[in-house]
Amino acid sequence: MQLCAEDLKPQHFRKISEVVQRVAGIHLKEGKEALVRARLMKRLRQLGIGRIEDYLELIEGERGAGEIPELVDVMTTNKTQFFREADHFDFLRETVLPALAGRRLRFWSAACSSGEEPYSLAIVLREHLHGLERRDVRVLATDISRRVLSRARRGVYPASVLEEMPDPACRRYFRPCPGSRPPEVEVTEEIRRLVHFAHLNLMEPWPMRGPFQVIFCRNVMIYFDRPTQQELIRRFGEILEPGGYLFVGHSEGLSAIRHDFQYIRPAVYRK
Ligand SMILES: C[S@@+](CC[C@H](N)C(=O)[O-])C[C@H]1O[C@@H](n2cnc3c(N)ncnc32)[C@H](O)[C@@H]1O
Repeated sequence: MQLCAEDLKPQHFRKISEVVQRVAGIHLKEGKEALVRARLMKRLRQLGIGRIEDYLELIEGERGAGEIPELVDVMTTNKTQFFREADHFDFLRETVLPALAGRRLRFWSAACSSGEEPYSLAIVLREHLHGLERRDVRVLATDISRRVLSRARRGVYPASVLEEMPDPACRRYFRPCPGSRPPEVEVTEEIRRLVHFAHLNLMEPWPMRGPFQVIFCRNVMIYFDRPTQQELIRRFGEILEPGGYLFVGHSEGLSAIRHDFQYIRPAVYRK
């Protein structure tokens, strides 16, 4: 079959952008045509569809409701890594955790991708939270992409991630997968049991009530437009407990947004 996805016309790009923004809040700006084309090609190939027009017909038709989540999934950017923006984890360890002694704790990784962020949070809790085993502590980890969530749940990564650990002691929370080529490691059960993964589109109603002590929403708001960011920050304010912390990506400061949070340090805010 001849794939013609290189024929992405401006009206196709506009249609795809409109759907992805309406469903997921993700704003595919002009200039992103090459990226959209490459990702769309991937989906068309999976479906065995050769023409973009046929694909657009599919998403506009009766079967659209089933296909649109797949389109959104393929359009997401899932780049992440263990202990990304490491100073956030230092701040947690040094300032946030010591003030949370003896209590039930709920942390939320609100766009968790393939799991590196929530597992990093769980490792910090395991290493530095006093009396963890006697306490009710959980990291909720959600994402819109079912594809990355299934990788996150599997908890298997290339062995090279061990190099990303800021402290070699954290390597004990991974065990080698026997026979894997190239070598892989698996997150251990004592870390996995702290993390609960769930599918959640941040644009839709949230089923959980909170309150959360800590929310990590990093490197996803950059894909949203200003009003969408504004509304999301307002909702985070509602579900955080008073004194709770919101961590955003370092390129996502809230300076252009109205909010009631207290600025603590770069990309860290407190309710
Ligand atoms: C670049 S990754 C960031 C991962 C991690 N927070 C980090 O900083 O390393 C962005 C993630 O946001 C997710 N995402 C995008 N739009 C979303 C939405 N509307 N609701 C939930 N997750 C979304 C994507 O699927 C992707 O996995």
